[in-house]
Amino acid sequence: MPYKDAVIHEIQRFGNIVPLNISHSTPTDVYLRGYLIPKGIEVIPFLTSVLYDKTQWKTPYDFNPNHFLDENGTFFRHDAFMPFSVGRRACAGEALAKMELFLFFTGLLQAFTFYLPPEVSREDLNLKPGVGFTLVPTPYMTCAKSNY
Ligand code: HEM
Repeated sequence: MPYKDAVIHEIQRFGNIVPLNISHSTPTDVYLRGYLIPKGIEVIPFLTSVLYDKTQWKTPYDFNPNHFLDENGTFFRHDAFMPFSVGRRACAGEALAKMELFLFFTGLLQAFTFYLPPEVSREDLNLKPGVGFTLVPTPYMTCAKSNY
């Protein structure tokens, strides 16, 4: 169970599906690290900069569920995990999305074993996303064998 939790979190970190968040604006003049961000200016929080931050993740550009497991294999919540953004305007559907991800992922893994089609090798796997306002997986082939 902790490993599955870690895999789901790493999918969300690595998947980085809302890289540019949603733009916001400053309600007042804000001073940040010596810079003035004037009132009313559009701010685009770059979630990629956190989800792939080299100072926060051991291997930011690799898919690595260990990012969320301590040395005993226990799941821990990572401060730099913020695919739903943070603050008062963070995703209103976060709790629902997390519940759905857990239930669908668990249900699919219980019902099926997934593997590569024989004609596809691991080297052929393309983890580069399709780029738009959100990042989406590029088309791929997989086999799903029923566990029942
Ligand atoms: C994996 C799934 C999801 C991800 C990664 C995600 C991510 C996000 C992000 C990054 C924002 C922008 C937050 C900001 O402006 O700082 C957002 C906003 C929002 N999301 Fe989601 N979301 C997901 C699923 C959902 C679902 C299932 C719902 C509703 C059922 C939902 C409803 C909303 C709403 C209403 C907002 C606007 C909140 C506001 O502006 O106050 N999201 N989401």
